[in-house]
Amino acid sequence: METTEQNRDLTRVGKGTPAGELLRRYWHPIAALSDLDDTVHGTKRVKLLGEQLVLFRDTQGRLGLIAEQCPHRRASFAYGMATADGIRCPYHGWEFSAQGKCLDQPFGRDNPSFRDKVSIDSYPVQELGGLVFAYLGPQPAPLLPRFDGLVVEGAVRTLGRAELPCNWLQIVETSVDPVHAEWLHGRYIEFAQEAPGVKTHISAPHEKIDFKEFEYGITKHRLLAGQPEDSDDWKVGHPIVFPSTLAVGNGDAHRRSYVFQMRVPMDDENTLHLWYHAYVPPQGATVPAHLLQKVHRHEVPYLNADGSYRVDHIDGQDIMAWLTQGRVADRSAENLAASDQGVALYRRILRREIAKVQRGEDPMGVIRDAARNERIDLPNEKDKKHFRGGFVEFQRRTHMRFSPVLQELGQIYEPDGAVLDINPLNPAQAGRPNRVSPQKNPAAETSTS
Ligand code: FES
Ligand SMILES: [Fe+2]
Repeated sequence: METTEQNRDLTRVGKGTPAGELLRRYWHPIAALSDLDDTVHGTKRVKLLGEQLVLFRDTQGRLGLIAEQCPHRRASFAYGMATADGIRCPYHGWEFSAQGKCLDQPFGRDNPSFRDKVSIDSYPVQELGGLVFAYLGPQPAPLLPRFDGLVVEGAVRTLGRAELPCNWLQIVETSVDPVHAEWLHGRYIEFAQEAPGVKTHISAPHEKIDFKEFEYGITKHRLLAGQPEDSDDWKVGHPIVFPSTLAVGNGDAHRRSYVFQMRVPMDDENTLHLWYHAYVPPQGATVPAHLLQKVHRHEVPYLNADGSYRVDHIDGQDIMAWLTQGRVADRSAENLAASDQGVALYRRILRREIAKVQRGEDPMGVIRDAARNERIDLPNEKDKKHFRGGFVEFQRRTHMRFSPVLQELGQIYEPDGAVLDINPLNPAQAGRPNRVSPQKNPAAETSTS
């Protein structure tokens, strides 16, 4: 439980707030690089840490991120015109560089001292793994971490995306809460599917949970009924990369996948949720070239036509649990229990790292040594058995059912598989839980989170 004031300190993201200042010490993903190809003006509006910004690419291909509103008379750069050196405002043509400097005010005689006065807020951006990352904190900016799934070569990359109307912290707290998977993704779905007569067992009881701090965050460990103590789920676990990314891996060296659930605080009451996947195809698999050329994006729907939450896929179940807590969960009214030891640990670390920033120190996981940043391999299960019931069978229980490339991924992983039924529910079924066959869902298989 937190007091109302403590809750505000842990959740608010604006400039000058305790958590907001901490969050400004990290790079945050704001878009897929390919997002800019699809917009009419080659720009993208971005809300990050309470700031309304515009991402753009100049005609030399360089990225920039500036405040949305023009300092002249406030028109939006989302409708701007890319130039060789930056972007021009659509209203009167003032031109700004990616560093926020005013380069040109077309009407009248040039007045350099006035021009210098009207700079605009700007922030550094970098591309990695097909994503664009932004840094809003003080200079010098730390290095953009080169985590395994972002830099692995030859992978098929997908990006699911949803803007969720709730604070970032209640989303992150799921990632240090292993027991929820047994209920929300297991017993609850079993309950919901009993009505149409289908009973599925998709998660076993947790016998033990544990958490370990490491250099980049916290690893989460679970031992499920029937698992041996030397199982990867218990021995290795998977990490919450501080402050807000869950990283799950799977498969051996010949067939590995990386899954990042990235939580990007837009403002106090809205969070951009990104599901970034990198699938390394099995050795010898034939992979169509177009699959490797860009990040393949999809929106993740979480509402039914009547406005209720979809609980027919694992990620929709999580989203329901996050959003029904309210815009900002009221932690003065909660009662933490034994299953919440990971939540309590995360909050202790969050407070500790906020204090470090207040003392002028770098918080956890900030990297400034390039030698340590060539490729950061995160601790992850190699034998999580997600694919035991079949690659597609597992994927279609997640947000990946909405991916435009799932059919092709299925052909790579299961070339001899039957015709795949991977589409979203047909409209007549919308809002009803998806039916999955019990025999294809052995216990201990659905701990995606
Ligand atoms: S409002 Fe942007 S140039 Fe006038
Ligand atoms: Fe979950």
